[in-house]
Amino acid sequence: MDDRLRRSLLYVPASSEAMLRKAPSRGADAIIVDLEDGVLPDAKEGARARAEGLWLELDLGLAEVLLRVNAPGTPWHEDDLLAAARIRPAGLVLPKCEDPGTIAAVAARLEATPLFLMVETARGVLVAPELARAPHVAGLLFGAADFRANVRASREPDEGEILVARSALVLAARAAGVEVFDTPHFEYRDEPGLERSARRARALGFDGKTCIHPAQVAVVNRVFAPTVEEVERARRVVEALKAAEREGRGVATVDGEMVEALHGREARRTLDRARRAGAA
Ligand code: COA
Ligand code: MG
Repeated sequence: MDDRLRRSLLYVPASSEAMLRKAPSRGADAIIVDLEDGVLPDAKEGARARAEGLWLELDLGLAEVLLRVNAPGTPWHEDDLLAAARIRPAGLVLPKCEDPGTIAAVAARLEATPLFLMVETARGVLVAPELARAPHVAGLLFGAADFRANVRASREPDEGEILVARSALVLAARAAGVEVFDTPHFEYRDEPGLERSARRARALGFDGKTCIHPAQVAVVNRVFAPTVEEVERARRVVEALKAAEREGRGVATVDGEMVEALHGREARRTLDRARRAGAA
């Protein structure tokens, strides 16, 4: 996996030229130019042409730009893939993934393009470990709106109805060594709700969260970057382990807690993420 920090990934419908043009300057680590559900069927062809025409003109800033195509089996999938092969986006987002064989076929056609697979159905969650191990997969994305509809779940304030699916994705991604990103929070004016949702996802192990509105980006970037306290503690863990090693010991004590090599690795990961987030 590459060295990019992906905390926030902002969906931008390719049907809106104004949104596309400004999207890279919204502070998201990645933007996902969307040809799928953010675009009405009648607008699909126009959106695809606009994405392709604008791609080279987009001022990418620091954002990485991914393309979300329509799912295999839809009338637009084939033309979307042809456009993707011409555009060569930094990554391709494939929605409603359920069949590892289909993923391998897409990967073969787009050669080295990293694939980000959306898991948003019961079948997708159940085969997530195989999806994550398909060729060229760089990450899994959870889509809770489709998932809830697919399993007939309701929406609970504590998001308890998506806990099992979220955890299944984290396990599948970690077992395959790929990244994993959480669902958008659809009430885009509800900042406290977004923050709670992002914190839950981070606690479960997610690397970042997808966004549907620019106002969500700063919250998500903050939640998925190490806090000042975490950075400070990580430094002390690294120092304590170094001191212990000089004395021939493999363990040390930090804040009354025993730490060993695994904590050292975790601390270095925290410091590395903080450095890449510009926070250390
Ligand atoms: N990407 C980039 N820019 C966006 C954006 C997005 N997803 N959502 C809103 N903006 C821009 C607007 O164009 C506006 O720009 P301006 O200040 O230059 O005029 C600014 O952010 C403020 O937008 P606001 O007026 O608050 O929202 P809106 O009513 O224009 O749009 C939505 C609300 C939900 C329709 C819009 O956010 C959206 O389309 N989101 C993406 C939905 C999507 O991709 N769904 C599929 C994935 S689940
Ligand atoms: Mg979806």
